[in-house]
Amino acid sequence: MKELIDKLEKEKNLSKEEFISLLKINKEEDIRYLNEKAKNVRDNIYGKKIFIRGLIEISNYCKNNCYYCGIRRSNNKAQRYRLTKNQILDCCKEGYNIGFRTFVMQGGEDAYFTDDIMVDIISEIKKNYPDCAITLSLGERSTESYRKLKKAGADRYLLRHETFNNKHYNKLHPKELDPENRKRCLRDLKKLGFQTGTGIMVGSPYQSTENIADDLIFIKELDPEMIGIGPFISHKDTPFNDFENGTMESTLILISILRLLCPYALIPATTALGTINPKGREKGILAGANVIMPNLSPKEDRKKYMLYNNKLSDGEESVEGLNKLKKSMLNIGYEIVVDKGDYIKIKNNY
Ligand code: 5AD
Repeated sequence: MKELIDKLEKEKNLSKEEFISLLKINKEEDIRYLNEKAKNVRDNIYGKKIFIRGLIEISNYCKNNCYYCGIRRSNNKAQRYRLTKNQILDCCKEGYNIGFRTFVMQGGEDAYFTDDIMVDIISEIKKNYPDCAITLSLGERSTESYRKLKKAGADRYLLRHETFNNKHYNKLHPKELDPENRKRCLRDLKKLGFQTGTGIMVGSPYQSTENIADDLIFIKELDPEMIGIGPFISHKDTPFNDFENGTMESTLILISILRLLCPYALIPATTALGTINPKGREKGILAGANVIMPNLSPKEDRKKYMLYNNKLSDGEESVEGLNKLKKSMLNIGYEIVVDKGDYIKIKNNY
């Protein structure tokens, strides 16, 4: 196992068979070796800095019906909300004052947020905060739409591919969602110059080790600037309510593998990781993650953005909990910084 880990660190890649072997890692000693290597790689590139992103969940209306997701259109128990432009601007103001320099507007695929409406909101945020980055996470859109959003000032876009394997994709999503279109979106985003994020759920229903190996190969090829992964957590009002959750342990292993595979990537310790285990986020950082995304959404709406059961919304992942989060990071030797936190690539280093 250690030879495989060393090889991954050195070559920043493995064959599919090697990935499958590595993913079978289970001895504590090997896992410690992997986590430690990944942590050192991130420390060599990003130091002890942790970047924060202010997450603004702008709408939980969604036209899609993904089997795993709590805000799927058929979940009529979800209380729907949509933020106004002024509410979004207020979130940015509050976030800016306490040190956020990236705003992430995330939402379900809500037809209300047309290109014109988004362009207006993005331009206004850019005008008010020229020193901030804008990240969007609004799902699949047309090439032309992405182009307009980029031109208006959006810097980054998050769109998890969820799984590379089309058969597996079709077990997680209804027929109307086409895995090829999702990949088209990701390639468009890269081409248009967005810092692009992708990722998967760890332990999603029907996921095999081979699927994850394919995901790793796809990620290496796409070369995304950001990689978001978290455990699958079942949601009670979805078709997947009876499936087992993914685990913290396998998520931490994958974070470390991703750090060695894509050394410069911005990798968050996600809310799902913090939800599955109270120490999840700290452990994510210690396994090689370097980003945390606290919630800036209005308090009254946060509980409505329930992608999965018990999603955290008012502890250290919230804006009110920022001081607590700072302390918990200091406790493990890391420091939250006021910084846009762009992707860096230093030549000849790694
Ligand atoms: N468990 C974990 N993650 C989920 N997501 C959606 N539903 C769940 C769930 N039940 C993730 C998806 C999506 C991101 C916004 O949230 O990967 O891309």
